[in-house]
Amino acid sequence: MADFEKILREVKHPGRGDRDIVALGMVKDVAVDGAKVTVTLGFPKRRDPLTEYLVGSVRAAVIRNCPEFDTVEVKTVVDENAGKPEKEGLGTEMVDNVKHIIGIASGKGGVGKSTVAVNLAIALARLGYKVGLADADVYGPSIPTMTATEGENPMMEKDDAGEWLVPVEKYGVKWMSIGYFAERGQALIWRGPMACSALKQMILQVKWGELDFLLVDMPPGTGDIHISFVQDVPVGGAVIVTTPQTVALADVEKSVDMFRNPNIGKPILGLVENMSWFTPAELPENKYYIFGRDGGKKMAERFGLELLGQIPLVQGIRENGDNGEPTALGTGPDSEAFLALARRIAEKLGV
Ligand SMILES: Nc1ncnc2c1ncn2[C@@H]1O[C@H](COP(=O)(O)OP(=O)(O)OP(=O)(O)O)[C@@H](O)[C@H]1O
Ligand SMILES: [Mg+2]
Repeated sequence: MADFEKILREVKHPGRGDRDIVALGMVKDVAVDGAKVTVTLGFPKRRDPLTEYLVGSVRAAVIRNCPEFDTVEVKTVVDENAGKPEKEGLGTEMVDNVKHIIGIASGKGGVGKSTVAVNLAIALARLGYKVGLADADVYGPSIPTMTATEGENPMMEKDDAGEWLVPVEKYGVKWMSIGYFAERGQALIWRGPMACSALKQMILQVKWGELDFLLVDMPPGTGDIHISFVQDVPVGGAVIVTTPQTVALADVEKSVDMFRNPNIGKPILGLVENMSWFTPAELPENKYYIFGRDGGKKMAERFGLELLGQIPLVQGIRENGDNGEPTALGTGPDSEAFLALARRIAEKLGV
């Protein structure tokens, strides 16, 4: 007789800190009838976003381990106690009222992820959406500077379930950054596991309330931190930021591969090309393609992704970021580029 407990413990729940489905009390029944096995899984809600993923993982685990069965059926039932996180870990209840968690990522540093994330958050808020932004870049948080909220000291609230951080509100957006917890100028040098949990805390231990969008400004790269992060936080999709230079291609490819990895399997909403062309302040109609033309478009075609938007390279975008008054707060073509991107993302997600 196959050891079903052992086999089903191989199936980890990506939204519950990778705890296995047996530990989470999701396995309701395993019934064997000749060459047929039926596994019944309990889910807390009828339309749990991870249903398909977990059903597929259970089927695969049984088929892989038990060639003796020729039919493997996985049934689902609603059970409000199934999949509840154990008390000691961070659960996902703080983001249960967030409609879309979107990671802003890129394989490469310095391409403008934080600039795009901050301006996109403000643009979405200007369109009337409820928006939060978590700065998950534990090595170089930039949200406090870009929003001129450096001095803020987020409050802690306590209740029966634990301690929660209250996000900082400014420009119609809720902000949370590891930068609020470091003394100014003090570099944050943390090793892997610590960096990982701090990053999850910035999302899962924050009182976000109801949000249409929670953007996550991811640290550059595609390392362990990223993988563990996308597995533990119920990220709904990713936006990949790139520049038009062909040298960025390999890095973008790594990012795309990471999200498309079958163990992660998060949809990529598309690419944003930053620094698409240079426009001098005194000649606002002129476009100089100093990093090459259509790099982002070609890259999007190559990976079968949509090019969601193009952002020009403009001195004001950097200056406004440094001054804490992001460009998306203003009017004019630069601000419009972020608003157009925001409209496209909202439209794509049907919000
Ligand atoms: N479209 C733009 N026009 C002008 N300057 C820009 C633009 N996008 C980004 N910058 C500037 O480029 C620098 C890097 O941008 P940013 O910090 O957003 O990149 P990043 O990808 O988040 O970097 P890191 O990998 O370090 O997190 C900043 O000084 C920023 O102001
Ligand atoms: Mg950044």
